[in-house]
Amino acid sequence: MKVKERIPGFVGEITGLDLATGISEEEAEGLRTAWANTPVLVLPNQDLSPVAMRTFGAVFGDLQPEPPMNQTYLEEGEEAVSYVGNIHKDGTPYPFGNLRATAWHSDQSYLEEPVAAGILHALKLPSRGGGTLFCNMYAAYEALDEEMRQRLDGMIGLHGYNVGRQGETGPPLDENKHGSWPTVRHPIVRTHPVTGRKALYVNPAHTYGIDGMAEDDPLLDRLLDHASDNANFAYYHDWEIGDAVVWDQRCLMHRGAGDAPSDEIRFLMRVKISGDRPF
Ligand code: OGA
Ligand code: MN
Repeated sequence: MKVKERIPGFVGEITGLDLATGISEEEAEGLRTAWANTPVLVLPNQDLSPVAMRTFGAVFGDLQPEPPMNQTYLEEGEEAVSYVGNIHKDGTPYPFGNLRATAWHSDQSYLEEPVAAGILHALKLPSRGGGTLFCNMYAAYEALDEEMRQRLDGMIGLHGYNVGRQGETGPPLDENKHGSWPTVRHPIVRTHPVTGRKALYVNPAHTYGIDGMAEDDPLLDRLLDHASDNANFAYYHDWEIGDAVVWDQRCLMHRGAGDAPSDEIRFLMRVKISGDRPF
């Protein structure tokens, strides 16, 4: 097993492992160590069945099935394995999949205990585009000046399902803003439970305000603008068939680039790893 940093402290690459045939406990430990160093971890050239995908996911923690509103694509008999893309599992078109998840987000930040990790495995890809963008929220936090970092210390962000400043890119719920999902409160500066490092923890899809501030206070927009679309914090993952990518939801935002021809198929297998309450 070989570990290489594609972008130091951000994106790593693992080669020399065939996940389909199973890995040793020592290799699993190596993967966890690499993942703590580079929160986006790319494993090219894999060929994973739903069972192998589950086994791979278990290296990083307990698997978490999709919450009910995202259950479009579950794998039968493998409740934690789902699919994302612009077709249904039976191959019929799912046009909403072209726009789905194209706002920056951290998965399930609208839950008390959001997932710790997402894993995607590329099965079918368009001829161009169709990438996934990642934003390094450790780096976004560290780039704030000292005064701002102190100001944010102890501040609480308000999260709800797709009700953020740039929400509504997930499967729609049929209720009004804020009414459909209870507000969840998370620290704006989140300490990573494994690395102990601090990261910004707000995202435009699900964060709609700051506790104790007017809902349109510009501070949240300022933080979101600071992190989003900043080339210093961003990585565009240009998928190859067979790539498996594990990313850390606790210190990254991500989004679908939404830049592929909408009539070409994009289809990835997914699992999620359960997480703890942010602190
Ligand atoms: C996800 C997600 C983005 C993409 O699976 O959680 O946001 O590029 N995917 O499909
Ligand atoms: Mn997502």
